[in-house]
Amino acid sequence: MKLAGRVALVTGGSRGIGKAIVEALAREGAKVAFIYRSSKESADKLVADLALDQREAFGIQADVANKAEADKAIEQVLEKWGQIDILVNNAGIIRDGLLAVMEPDAWSDVINTNLGSCYNFCNGVMRTMMSKRYGRIINISSVAAEFGNQGQTNYAASKGGIQGLTRCLATEVGRRNITVNAVAPGFIETDMTEAVRNAAEGEIKKRIAVRRLGKPEDIANAVSFLASEEASYITGHVLVVDGGLTLGGI
Ligand SMILES: NC(=O)c1ccc[n+]([C@@H]2O[C@H](COP(=O)([O-])OP(=O)(O)OC[C@H]3O[C@@H](n4cnc5c(N)ncnc54)[C@H](OP(=O)(O)O)[C@@H]3O)[C@@H](O)[C@H]2O)c1
Repeated sequence: MKLAGRVALVTGGSRGIGKAIVEALAREGAKVAFIYRSSKESADKLVADLALDQREAFGIQADVANKAEADKAIEQVLEKWGQIDILVNNAGIIRDGLLAVMEPDAWSDVINTNLGSCYNFCNGVMRTMMSKRYGRIINISSVAAEFGNQGQTNYAASKGGIQGLTRCLATEVGRRNITVNAVAPGFIETDMTEAVRNAAEGEIKKRIAVRRLGKPEDIANAVSFLASEEASYITGHVLVVDGGLTLGGI
């Protein structure tokens, strides 16, 4: 188990990609705290399922866009387990629409949840990681940061911002043995993509080199690697995990 003795904090761990990340890190021996906003039932079930497998996890209800709530959640983890070695900023939302008719809330909710949360949690864990001289931070971006998608100006701006934050922070904290990387998923089967999948799954698959949609576990495996000792010389990197979607082949 390559993460034995480590403590991880994952935002948005109740469903989808975040849930698979919680499971993957726990399977590798880490104790895992995770944040959710409203899905208490699935959060409780995840903790119970992991406990059956002798894995330690607990869920914290908080709005990741709110700095005070983020700090309180971090405090709870530190009180319980005394350290946070791994931070995965995964929580994210979409509020798609053309910019010409986008309401200010659709812009600010997406920016504050997706990008603001990365500031909130990176800033919040920095003191403990710096004092322990150890940290692995993994931010979940998206291939949408680099490729134009109609209706996703807010989302793409938030995910591009995450990549910039990742690179700059990596230069700030590398000498303290803290690495900061991003994972950019392609098209993954979760609640977030359900509507698009229902409308155009066949067409999307044709554009993916490996001819299948991604599973949350595909992203979790990449995160688990970046969180491990084996990835200690990788920092400031954006790892695209998209089955070849953005290669442009057909
Ligand atoms: N699915 C894809 O194809 C894809 C592709 C590229 C990037 N991504 C990125 O991957 C990440 C996970 O996506 P997903 O598809 O797994 O999404 P999802 O199934 O919709 O799950 C989103 C998770 O984030 C949590 N969350 C959302 N807003 C929150 C808030 N304000 N405070 C606390 N928790 C919040 C949700 O909590 P509740 O359950 O309580 O609502 C849930 O656990 C996101 O950052 C997304 O942008 C996804």
